[in-house]
Order: sequence, then structure tokens, then C-alpha cells
Amino acid sequence: MTRPAVLVSRRVFDDIVDRLRQHFDVTTNPDDTVWPQAELIARLQGKVGVFITGSEKIDAALLDACPDLRAVCTMAVGYNNIDVAACTARGVVVTNAPDVLTETTADFGFALMMAAARRIAESEHFLRRGEWNKWSVDMFAGSDVHGATLGVLGMGRIGQAIARRGALGFGMQVVYHNRSRLPADIEATLGARWVSKEELLRQADHLVIVVPYSAASHHLVGAAELALMKPGATLTNIARGGVVDDAALARALKDRVIAAAALDVFEGEPQFNRDLLDAPSVVLTPHIASASIPTRRAMANLATDNLIALLTGGEPKTALNPEARKR
Ligand code: DGY
Repeated sequence: MTRPAVLVSRRVFDDIVDRLRQHFDVTTNPDDTVWPQAELIARLQGKVGVFITGSEKIDAALLDACPDLRAVCTMAVGYNNIDVAACTARGVVVTNAPDVLTETTADFGFALMMAAARRIAESEHFLRRGEWNKWSVDMFAGSDVHGATLGVLGMGRIGQAIARRGALGFGMQVVYHNRSRLPADIEATLGARWVSKEELLRQADHLVIVVPYSAASHHLVGAAELALMKPGATLTNIARGGVVDDAALARALKDRVIAAAALDVFEGEPQFNRDLLDAPSVVLTPHIASASIPTRRAMANLATDNLIALLTGGEPKTALNPEARKR
């Protein structure tokens, strides 16, 4: 009996591929090439399922060119690279990987925020350049994290995990902005107060951005928003490139509109605005907030569970459009 054919679009852990091989005829990408769209489409011919990451674009044109496709399972929580409505219209179920990366990503966001506040990257570069030859009273003196006001823009699972770290671990006052307010009991547990976006920008000593990317959140923080922030404030973006206007941020850092920034995500990544390299007080990391080994394994296993369930008649754990199955 022929088994369903699936594609794993990027290199993943060997045991994940072994799990998939128990059910499917699996094509992999051992070179880990990011295939151009035409090649991705060519490789998807005859495939009923695909295991993807955040780097593959699943849009209407691809779906029309790959009519056998029934399941798109990403190991990322973010799915701005997938046109879910187009998938639903064609009966293609999409799953993502929420929850399993929440704490790891929050750890990293907090670490980045602390690195920006305490000027860790900047001072390490100074030391590596051999420029450290004396002590000075204000050498790389930054701002405190403990007791400061933490502003969280986007209060989903990861935003809440960051707020918890700030409130319970560091005695921070937490303000947040989100389209919908949290239930009062969760606000009370986190000690978090909903404020307007403008108030959030004005009040935060440390702003952490965790909103999903969409047309509505494109350049949610640009020059006008940065101008509202305190001169001593830091900004950390672990959401998606494009939520922050990186060019405006580089300018704001250079002009000392805010004190420091930490970015794990960039507009057009893996390309990024080179002005950021010359900006003072900036910490830059290559989209690794969820990159602990246990978490990356959990993300890949969840995508695998979903793909197996979808193609063997089971229930996927985290479908974004379960209604597509009925089509
Ligand atoms: C996600 O899962 O969306 C994170 O950005 C990690 O890629």
C-alpha cells in the first residue's frame, strides 16, 4: 500500500524524521536550504502534508500549485508566513506550536531586556576591543530592572510569562496594552494594569514587545511612538520583524531618544537594517528566543504529532482552522 507522502521543509532532529517515517513516505531537506518558492512548490508535488518552520511561505499561489496538500504543520507559534484563510478555503488544515515555547521565549525576552538595561553586549564589545584600561564611576552604567516599570505590548501567553517574571521575580510594576483586557483575576495575579498604548509607551522603563505580526501591527512602534518613551527607557522586540520600524529605531538610538534596545527579530530577516550595527546600546540576536534544545525538540514533536494526527484520521492538538477539515 502506498503511504501518504510528506515533505519536511528544513533540517530537523533525526528522531523526528524517524517518527514521521513510521507513517509516511518522507522527503527531507538535509542541506537545510531555504528553497525559493518555485522549488518549494516543485518539491511539494504529490505531497499531502508538509512540516514547515517560520521560513516557508504558504500562500494562495502555492496552494493552487499543490492541489494534493491537506495539512500544513509549522513548528513555530507564529504563523504570519501562512495564509490561513487561503488554506481554509481549500480544505487545508494548518497547525502551529503554541505553549511549548512560552517559558523559554519569555526567559530569552527577559534576558534581552536585562542585557539592554545593563548594557551587557555593549560593554562586552568594549572589553573585546581591548579598550578597558581603567575603572570609571559611570562606565557602562545603565538602568535598574528590579523595581522599574515593565511595559508589555501584547499580553498573550508569552507576554504574561514575561510579566510574571517581572512582577514576581524582580518586583517590577507591570503595565500592559493588548486589544483585549485580561480577566481581573489574571491581572491581579500578575499585578498587571491595562493602559492605552500611548500610556504604555510613556510609563514603561522597559518595554517588551510580544504582539503577533499582521497588517494591523506593521510598524506598531515607529518614530512617533518612540518619541513618547522615556529617554532612559529600553525597548525589546521578540515578536516579529516589522512590528517595530527598525530604521526609526536605529535613528532613535543614535539621537538618544531612548537609552537602549534589544532585538531578536528584524524586518526582512535574515537581512536587517545595517544602521542598527552603528546604533549605540543595542543587543542583536538572530531570532533565537525559542532556541533551547528541549524547547526546539518540543516544538518539532508537536508539529509531528499534528501531522500524524491529521493524516491518519486523528485529532490535531493545535489546529488553527479545524473547520477546514469539513470542506
Ligand atoms: C515562533 O515560534 O514563532 C518563534 O518566533 C520561534 O521561531
